[in-house]
Amino acid sequence: MTGDHYFTAEPTTPAQPREVEFSVAGRDYTLASASGVFSAARLDPGTAVLLRKAELPGHDATGPLLDVGCGFGPITCVLASSAPAATVWAVDVNQRARDLTAANAARVGAAGRVHVAAPDDVPADLTFAEIWSNPPIHIGKAELHELLRRWLPRLAPDGVAWLVVARHLGGDSLHRWLVEQGWQVERHASQKGFRVLRVTR
Ligand SMILES: C[S@@+](CC[C@H](N)C(=O)[O-])C[C@H]1O[C@@H](n2cnc3c(N)ncnc32)[C@H](O)[C@@H]1O
Repeated sequence: MTGDHYFTAEPTTPAQPREVEFSVAGRDYTLASASGVFSAARLDPGTAVLLRKAELPGHDATGPLLDVGCGFGPITCVLASSAPAATVWAVDVNQRARDLTAANAARVGAAGRVHVAAPDDVPADLTFAEIWSNPPIHIGKAELHELLRRWLPRLAPDGVAWLVVARHLGGDSLHRWLVEQGWQVERHASQKGFRVLRVTR
């Protein structure tokens, strides 16, 4: 046993390379993954619901778009592929996840438009047209709230955030909390026990 979690900053376990295959909106993806990152062996079912049910950015979208907690980069790669003119920022605390996302952005031909960064390295004056996240519930409620308080205010005035949370991990209480914080929140979809929340100002 090691003390590593998927949100460990520098995983100490050796990176066992893997590949994850999935399809979104008629496009096939084969992305690099590795032990020590979230859902290393398959596209997470919550992420799959998010990418199936939320409204992907259109072909003409320019962003910038933000993926909070990018893991090995499935959301980032789908956003970058759906919006081939958009800039995408991919943020994670886990160095291995960031390295994989950068490699996967290159795989989908978006290396020049995908900026992979640790949270503190995102320029403070950037606002985002869209924020996407399968947020890290397991860091704890207070930390999750802090994460959302940090990033949601970075939405552009007419921006949209798309979040997916399992109902049994508090999807509905997170919905209520976001409303209490003054956000407009719509339960856009519910599938396989996951809530897809659409959040606006
Ligand atoms: C549920 S996983 C989702 C990963 C990926 N987006 C996916 O769908 O497979 C959440 C991610 O958030 C990252 N994370 C944890 N705490 C974070 C923080 N404070 N800031 C940014 N990312 C964080 C974790 O390392 C993890 O990769």
